[in-house]
Amino acid sequence: MKILGICGSPRNGNTEWMVGRVLEAARSAGAETELILLKDEDIKLCTGCLECELHDDTTPGACVIKDDMDALLPKMLAADAFVFGTPVYFYMLSALLKNFMDRTIPVWPLLKGKSAVGVAVAEDTVGKALENLRTYADVCKLEWVGDVSAFASAPGEIASNEGIAAALAGLGRRLVDTVQQ
Ligand SMILES: Cc1cc2nc3c(=O)[nH]c(=O)nc-3n(C[C@H](O)[C@H](O)[C@H](O)COP(=O)(O)O)c2cc1C
Repeated sequence: MKILGICGSPRNGNTEWMVGRVLEAARSAGAETELILLKDEDIKLCTGCLECELHDDTTPGACVIKDDMDALLPKMLAADAFVFGTPVYFYMLSALLKNFMDRTIPVWPLLKGKSAVGVAVAEDTVGKALENLRTYADVCKLEWVGDVSAFASAPGEIASNEGIAAALAGLGRRLVDTVQQ
């Protein structure tokens, strides 16, 4: 079982820590995991040309932009499940994660049936960030297994949030259980 973590923070911060805890629990439950830090990837903005649109539901489309999405899209297709993580920006998901989602246009219908969880971290208001992640999952017909949100501001502050590590580990185990069923 392959689980792909996708972290939408532009810094080594709280989101990365949260996604890491979910993946750690998934590994302990037997999954193979990989963490993608979008900040370290070269992912250009979707230009909206729609050249990549799928003509059937079995073959990935081809994006005209040549960048790190060429390697990331096959990883998405090979994964059984995803852990989406975002810092809350203006009560929403981060632009880094949203642009990544936009660039999945060449494959999104092929993700149907995979599983996903989401994590979000805000200073004080999560707003619609988790709803944003769930909406992407709904559009792609992913099975939404659950989500966790937490409050923290400075990078690493999340680690002192009591109980959050257990909640994240529980989410990772539930994700593995769901894929195994
Ligand atoms: C551009 C920007 C917008 C933000 N908007 C919100 C917000 O709407 N609500 C909130 O509670 N925190 C907001 N924050 C604070 C971050 O969500 C918070 O610092 C979080 O811990 C960042 O996660 P990270 O360490 O993974 O980057 C914002 C931060 C930035 C940089």
